[in-house]
Formats: sequence, structure tokens, C-alpha cells
Amino acid sequence: MLNVVELTKSFGSGSNKLHVLNGIEMGIERGELVALMGPSGCGKSTLLNIIGGLMPADSGDINLDDRSYGLKNPSSVVDVRRSLVGWIFQDFHLLDHLSALDNVAMALEISGVPSKEADKRARDALEKVNLGDRMDHIPDQLSGGQQQRVAIARAIAGNRPLLLADEPTGNLDIASGAEVLQLFKDLCHDKENPISILMVTHDPDLASKADRMLLMRDGLVAASDIRSAWGLDGEGEEE
Ligand SMILES: Nc1ncnc2c1ncn2[C@@H]1O[C@H](COP(=O)(O)OP(=O)(O)OP(=O)(O)O)[C@@H](O)[C@H]1O
Ligand SMILES: [Mg+2]
Repeated sequence: MLNVVELTKSFGSGSNKLHVLNGIEMGIERGELVALMGPSGCGKSTLLNIIGGLMPADSGDINLDDRSYGLKNPSSVVDVRRSLVGWIFQDFHLLDHLSALDNVAMALEISGVPSKEADKRARDALEKVNLGDRMDHIPDQLSGGQQQRVAIARAIAGNRPLLLADEPTGNLDIASGAEVLQLFKDLCHDKENPISILMVTHDPDLASKADRMLLMRDGLVAASDIRSAWGLDGEGEEE
């Protein structure tokens, strides 16, 4: 459902030019949870931003369902952001003064869903992330894990086929992080309406629980296993 083809991106110009993505090739099937790992500054967020339609690449292509937009400016991929790609961030990005229900419903209303329908879909999404009994709480009255689940409800309420999660468990304790990962798996492996999730994480333990791991290095991505994710590649060779 997602195909990234020969994607390149650099920042700056002249001698200050920084080549971040050097021909990324990757894909995700419907129903797959894929973990993306790699050292700080290697370009993981840049890749997500391009897939999410927030910035254009320099060359290459992105195919998502039947849309192709790798080089398009953000202003001409409104439909990608509105109906194809949902976001989940490390710091939740919830509105402090709105209840869980209103945080989710408002996002739907902004994308054009009538209030009554938005309310119903928000309730359904919050039930799905097991927050049926916390809908009227504001973020301050929720734990970090619960706040992240509100953000996940907001991301899935729009029925978008692809979620991009940039270090979604970075601010959570181990137990809440594991819960978020299990929720991601349930959403991807749903029998009726499976979605796909691309998740950036620095936690090899969580990454190993995804369907597949990718490792980004030198502007390229490669399939990874748990040993290389832990940085154990080539261990013992010097002996
Ligand atoms: N808008 C920009 N202008 C200039 N340089 C940028 C811009 N965005 C990112 N960079 C640079 O591109 C490189 C990749 O950044 P990116 O945020 O994608 O890394 P990352 O893999 O997400 O890192 P982290 O794990 O720390 O979040 C970094 O060296 C960063 O400084
Ligand atoms: Mg990043």
C-alpha cells in the first residue's frame, strides 16, 4: 500500500549541503506494523515528514494507495494529510482544555465531518483504544499512556489507512509503551479493517515486537534483525 522509491533529500546548499536521504527504498503492506530504527540525526523524521506530505523530496517517489506525491509541495497534498495519513507524536499534541472526546471529535470536524457524526466516530475510536470510561477527562486527568491512547484514537478516527508514529513511546514508562505497541498490533492485525503503521523507535525491545524492523544508516534503509538493532552487528569478529 505504501511504496517509497529512490527517495533523496538534502538540506542547505554549497559546501554546507547535508545529504540526509540517499535513495530510500522501502514499502509497507496493508496490515503491517513496521519499526524504523537508526541513529539520531540519520533522517527518520525527515522520511516520515515526506511520506506524510509535509515536505517534498528532491528526487524519487512516494506511492500511497493510488496517490503519487514524493516531489509535490505540501500545499498540493492536502488530500494525503486529510484522508490517507495519520500522525502520532512523542509528546501527544493534545489540546489541554478539551476532553478526550472533544480532542478526537475536533480533529474530525476540522477535516469536514459534521458534529454529530464526529461525536459518534470519536466515541467509537475511544472505545477501540479502551478509553470508553475516560472520554470526559481532560489530558491533565489522564496518565501519559492514556493521553497517548487519546492521540491514537484521534489518528484512527479519520479512517486513514496509514499511521506515522514518531517515537510514540518516547515519553512513556515501559509498561505504557508495551501497551501502545500491543494496541498498534491490534489495529494492524484487525480482521475487518486493518491499517498500516510505520513507527520510529529507539527501543530495540519494542521494535523486535513489530512485524518487521528497518534500520536506517547513511541515508539508506535495510531490513534489520534484533542483533543489528541492538548494535551487535559483527560482535566477536575482532577476537
Ligand atoms: N528543515 C531542516 N533544515 C536543515 N536541516 C535539517 C532540517 N530538518 C532536518 N535537518 C537535518 O537533517 C538530519 C536528519 O534529521 P532528522 O530529524 O530526520 O533525524 P532523526 O533520524 O529523526 O533524528 P532523531 O532520532 O534525533 O529524531 C539532521 O542532521 C538534521 O539536523
Ligand atoms: Mg526524529
